[in-house]
Amino acid sequence: MDTDTAPLTVTVVIGSNRHGRFGPVVADWLLTHVNDRADLTLQVVDVADTGRLPTTLAPSPEASAALAAITPKLSSADAFVVLTPEYNHSFPAGLKNLIDWHYTEWRAKPVALVSYGGLAGGLRAVEHLRQVFAELHAVTVRDTVSFHNAGASFDDRGLLKDPSAPDAAAKAMLDQLVWWGRSLKEARETRPYAA
Ligand SMILES: Cc1cc2nc3c(=O)[nH]c(=O)nc-3n(C[C@H](O)[C@H](O)[C@H](O)COP(=O)(O)O)c2cc1C
Repeated sequence: MDTDTAPLTVTVVIGSNRHGRFGPVVADWLLTHVNDRADLTLQVVDVADTGRLPTTLAPSPEASAALAAITPKLSSADAFVVLTPEYNHSFPAGLKNLIDWHYTEWRAKPVALVSYGGLAGGLRAVEHLRQVFAELHAVTVRDTVSFHNAGASFDDRGLLKDPSAPDAAAKAMLDQLVWWGRSLKEARETRPYAA
């Protein structure tokens, strides 16, 4: 398979770890879209599983054990989708901690952003993440998917009540992610990144 047809490894980061969180409902919708694509191979990192990562960024046997389960899924990724809710006009602290524990794993790779929240649909969290990922030499994808009043957008079975617009937005976003993912993978393989 050449670089135009080989599937890219994409790691979806589920960004909330709040007790009683709504995140898994949106994540299920997103993971279905990624799984349905022949051009993407899915890995998942759930911030809810990263609770043993210290927020002091202090190395320790416990931190190493936690990183051993997380870092390979970031370093092996060609592309990322970060799913974030909005907390107080930004993204959750647990997601920031996961991001900050890593550096080169994000570098010269594309990041697509999916958000949910109240009235603003998590868009302020998305704009904050764009600044963070720019500092990490990652490229955020222009198109996003956002769910305002997310709880009311899904039914009791966790299915979207009106899927047409979000489904179309997800396709556009993932198409762009694949374009960037292929382009940057090829570039990384051709020449070292100028960091
Ligand atoms: C601490 C906290 C702060 C929040 N702040 C905002 C906010 O600024 N804007 C917004 O639209 N929604 C806000 N919300 C609503 C959340 O985005 C919404 O409840 C979402 O489902 C949270 O994701 P989670 O359930 O996966 O944790 C906030 C929720 C919490 C718990």
